[in-house]
Amino acid sequence: MKSELESLIDEIKSCRKCTLHLTKKNYVPGEGNENAQIMFIGEAPGREEDEQGRPFVGNAGKLLTALIERKLGLARKDVYIANILKCRPPNNRDPMEHEVDACFPYLLRQIEIIKPDVIVCLGRHSAKTIFEHFEIPFRNISRDRGKVHVKNTDFGKISFVATYHPAAALYKPAYREIIESDFEKISGLIKRKNLTLSDFISD
Ligand code: URA
Repeated sequence: MKSELESLIDEIKSCRKCTLHLTKKNYVPGEGNENAQIMFIGEAPGREEDEQGRPFVGNAGKLLTALIERKLGLARKDVYIANILKCRPPNNRDPMEHEVDACFPYLLRQIEIIKPDVIVCLGRHSAKTIFEHFEIPFRNISRDRGKVHVKNTDFGKISFVATYHPAAALYKPAYREIIESDFEKISGLIKRKNLTLSDFISD
């Protein structure tokens, strides 16, 4: 039988709530561990993600994956990765408000099912949308990144942290160090309960 998350993913893949489904190649619903302790939320799929139907698989995704592995000691399969929008906006333009309004309920249902302890917002669009929804003050990403906000939500207690979008670090090397230091802070928030049996077995 399908899990609740798998059924939700099927529902997302037949969404017609805005016109982005007409221009996308593939829906990019999100992927990862249904019991993840930590969720990463980006803005919207880019070209590579649209091709593959998977989040963060282009150059920004390679950096995100490296940060998850090196700074958090986790694998992609341990975490959950999703976006505010599930379809690529044409030419990677910014998400429009009505698109966010149409798509955001899917993300809320993903959060409700996964019940993460930590949500990491990648970039200003993600941070603004998530922070506003959960009533966390947001001014701009430079001022508000790297701070931990613990909130009692309808989905349990969640620590919210925003950081720069990994794509920003690719064209502004100074951001790279800042993202790395934010990930070190995030590392302190996770309780490493997602370790698998193989983590305890040595040859
Ligand atoms: N940028 C995003 O915000 N999300 C992706 O999945 C890829 C790039």
